[in-house]
Amino acid sequence: MTEAILLVGGKGTRLRPLTVHTPKPMVPAAGVPFLTHQLARARAAGVEHIVLATSYLAEVFEPYFGDGSALGLHLEYVTEEEPLGTGGAIRNVASRLHSAPGDPVLIFNGDILTGLDIEALVDTHRTTGADVSLHLTKVADPRAFGLVPTDGTGRVTAFLEKPQTPEEIVTDQINAGAYVFNRSVIDTIPAGRPVSVERETFPGLLESGAHLQGMVDSTYWLDLGTPHAFVRGSADLVLGRAPSPAVPGRCGDRLVMDTAEVAPDAKITGGSAVGPRARIGAGARVDGSAVLEGAVVEPGARVRDSLIGAGAHIGARTVLEGAVIGDGARVGADNELREGIRVWCDAEIPAASVRFSSDQ
Ligand code: GDD
Ligand code: MG
Repeated sequence: MTEAILLVGGKGTRLRPLTVHTPKPMVPAAGVPFLTHQLARARAAGVEHIVLATSYLAEVFEPYFGDGSALGLHLEYVTEEEPLGTGGAIRNVASRLHSAPGDPVLIFNGDILTGLDIEALVDTHRTTGADVSLHLTKVADPRAFGLVPTDGTGRVTAFLEKPQTPEEIVTDQINAGAYVFNRSVIDTIPAGRPVSVERETFPGLLESGAHLQGMVDSTYWLDLGTPHAFVRGSADLVLGRAPSPAVPGRCGDRLVMDTAEVAPDAKITGGSAVGPRARIGAGARVDGSAVLEGAVVEPGARVRDSLIGAGAHIGARTVLEGAVIGDGARVGADNELREGIRVWCDAEIPAASVRFSSDQ
């Protein structure tokens, strides 16, 4: 049996407009809290025991997921009093693991949507005899990630978290946020203080001659850290581009929850998800977006690549493109809100107040 640790203690500040009461892993993506997809994928790969390492807004996880039996899992929760960083969080849950020193333990960043073949990562770990194995992916701009160059056999030669200078950008291979650790390696992380696995543990292991193995897998991969990525990920789950056994119902152009009300001539496309009790008015168009629980989109509104928080209200004929509307916010009729705009939870924008179109 393989067991896993899921890191869900980060603040997710970039999703802040939506996350005043909800930590990022609990924001619904394709109809269910995002974390459900990661848990269900781990279960499908044979993982039975998962420890959630939590810190920020920790109290919301357990009431929702309970002991994990609904997902066929045994779930445990450990809450840090002060955030311990990624490495500190891993060390802090070590006493809950059942694995023996040489056994493999899976570790996942809690904000990644991926089609990674988890069993292949564990196999790579076993066959190479590595101390730690890492899923690597290639991205066009690696600056926001951990850079992981490897030699001809896939063995990791360096780990450079968030490179600052052009000279440091030595590869387009990045740490994709899924690891297999030998249990004994977890026990070597110092306890009781913050530790970054990326800045301290990995470089330290390399220096001491440990074997870190990279597995490049070019399957679907997305870090949902920004609202834009979150909306994209939700739509890709609905469309079936990002594989998850937890998407309710069948994949397709849209996911409309049973209790949502959608006017017959409203157009919901591009993997949009419409949450429970949400309402979409006549002639409205919603494309590649997520409309969360109880939100209202009035007639004639046009919504693209946007996230509309729970209970938010979008007025008639209003245009949203690449917008994030916080829970409970009210955007009046005839507004135009474009790329990058963030409307805070419960904020109000009166009718006909904002436009972006040309002055001609
Ligand atoms: N329990 C706990 N405590 N979890 C934490 C803490 C903490 O103090 N800090 C961060 N986490 C969790 C976050 O919730 C997230 O799931 C994961 O650890 C990674 O943290 P992020 O804050 O999302 O890091 P990042 O996206 O900037 O970078 C990480 O992920 C990249 C891939 O998306 C690094 O691992 C990079 O090396 C990697 O390339
Ligand atoms: Mg992240």
